[in-house]
Amino acid sequence: MAKETRSALEKQDPRIEGLLARVREDICGELLAINDYSLHAREADLLGMDKMALVLRQILCGEKEHLAHHIKLLLENDPEQADILAKVLGAAI
Ligand SMILES: [Fe+2]
Repeated sequence: MAKETRSALEKQDPRIEGLLARVREDICGELLAINDYSLHAREADLLGMDKMALVLRQILCGEKEHLAHHIKLLLENDPEQADILAKVLGAAI
C-alpha cells in the first residue's frame, strides 16, 4: 500500500469509515438481490410464466446497475480498496 494511501486512511473521520462500512453492506445486499432475482426468474421460466420472468430479469438488471453504483461509491472513497482492485483487475475492465 502506498504511504499516502495509508496515511489518508489513518486520518479518516470515523463517521466516514462507518458510512463506507454501510456501503459495503449495501454491496452485499445488491449481490444477494442479484442472486435472488436470477433464481426467481429461472423459476418463472420453468413454470412457463414468461411475463413474470421478463419483469424479474428487468429488476435483475436494475440490481446489477445498483451494484455498479455502490462499487463506484466505495472505490471513490476507499483508496486502499481502489488500489487493490486496480492491481487485481489490471486492464481486465
Ligand atoms: Fe438494489
